[in-house]
Amino acid sequence: MSASPPASPLHGQRILLCVGGGIAAYKSLELVRRLREAGAQVQVAMTAGAQQFVTPLSFQALSGQPTRTTLWDDGAEQAMGHLELARWADRVVVAPATADLLARLAHGMADDLVATLCLATEAPLTLCPAMNHRMWRHPATQANVAVLAQRGAQVLGPEDGPLAEGESGPGRLTEPAAIVAALAGAAAPADPGDGALAGLKVVVSAGPTYEDLDPVRYLGNRSSGKMGFAVAASAARRGAEVVLVAGPVSLPTPPGVRRVDVRSAAQMREAVFAAFPADLYIGAAAVADYTPREPAANKIKKSSESLALDLVRTPDILAEVAAQTTHGLKLVVGFAAETEKVAEYARGKLAAKRLDMIVANRVGIADGGFESDTNAMTAYWKDGERAFPSAPKTRLADALVDLIAERLQA
Ligand code: CTP
Repeated sequence: MSASPPASPLHGQRILLCVGGGIAAYKSLELVRRLREAGAQVQVAMTAGAQQFVTPLSFQALSGQPTRTTLWDDGAEQAMGHLELARWADRVVVAPATADLLARLAHGMADDLVATLCLATEAPLTLCPAMNHRMWRHPATQANVAVLAQRGAQVLGPEDGPLAEGESGPGRLTEPAAIVAALAGAAAPADPGDGALAGLKVVVSAGPTYEDLDPVRYLGNRSSGKMGFAVAASAARRGAEVVLVAGPVSLPTPPGVRRVDVRSAAQMREAVFAAFPADLYIGAAAVADYTPREPAANKIKKSSESLALDLVRTPDILAEVAAQTTHGLKLVVGFAAETEKVAEYARGKLAAKRLDMIVANRVGIADGGFESDTNAMTAYWKDGERAFPSAPKTRLADALVDLIAERLQA
């Protein structure tokens, strides 16, 4: 007799799916199907634009509930008023979240049913943007998303790749399976922690660094900081005193964590050493390896056909931390993002930097790595390794911190 699989954390969850007016609206049909397969109850509200791409009837057939399309529907309002619907939801998911919808939500507008529901609900909000890549990159859209993220919205995607209009870039709706995985991660009861790190001080670095070229330009990278923030949150839940040295990212500070914001590799190094003494150092930041020898005092003007930058190596914070002996560190953990020969390169860094552990993940694959909410990774130490299959970063962070607590005892 085989045991039945454990219920998804989405089982019994009430999800209000708001569909915006973009071509990716058709993918939201699959999202409804997958959410229902995971055991969630789904109600759908559509903007007027969304109805140009997919019919309310299609959503109705898949959700098993009447689709809501307008604030001014007497019949629907009698069955369940829109404020009641906003209260009903355990989570509101906006997919696709178009540029227009993000702008309206950022401004707290209530000019149609979807915007009103998002304004009236107290449920957590997940936004899945999808649009033309130029619209996504526009500072107005970026500012709107930043405002919504700061207010606590979970932002999934958009993904990079071919777009409907024949162009390519960031703008694709995150695949429904990945949205469901991220929602399941968010719906899972928070790991209460177990005091495994009680009495220990942990310094975590996270996010990218920006190396200024001149007053308006910098060299940066695509690290989102999500993994480092999740590790800091997890260590704090396990009773540690946590200092999080964060590069430029717009993520909320996890509860119980002291955060120090920095910009460059040099500033990160200074903040890390200022946080010592500590028991553990976890270097999850994607620190720039090179920085301009002399950032220009004024904006660099274009002159010749090509421009060579004079860059110098940044201090390797992780190697420096691992090499010092005065700060009482019990364990130093590094990260490695590799595109090939993951184990070989990771073990090379473990030895070269004299680390106690290195956590490696493959980047450049569709699901996982920088900017993604999910990831798969392997931790290596001198005489062992442990693989963590693809999971939301919050889950991976818990598993990793458990392993770190285990290795501390070893
Ligand atoms: N790191 C650091 N300081 C630097 C560069 C990297 O502390 N100046 C840390 C990162 O926080 C991460 C690890 O080192 O924990 C990454 O190792 P690294 O050898 O820098 O990886 P890559 O930059 O990917 O190296 P390479 O380009 O040689 O693969």
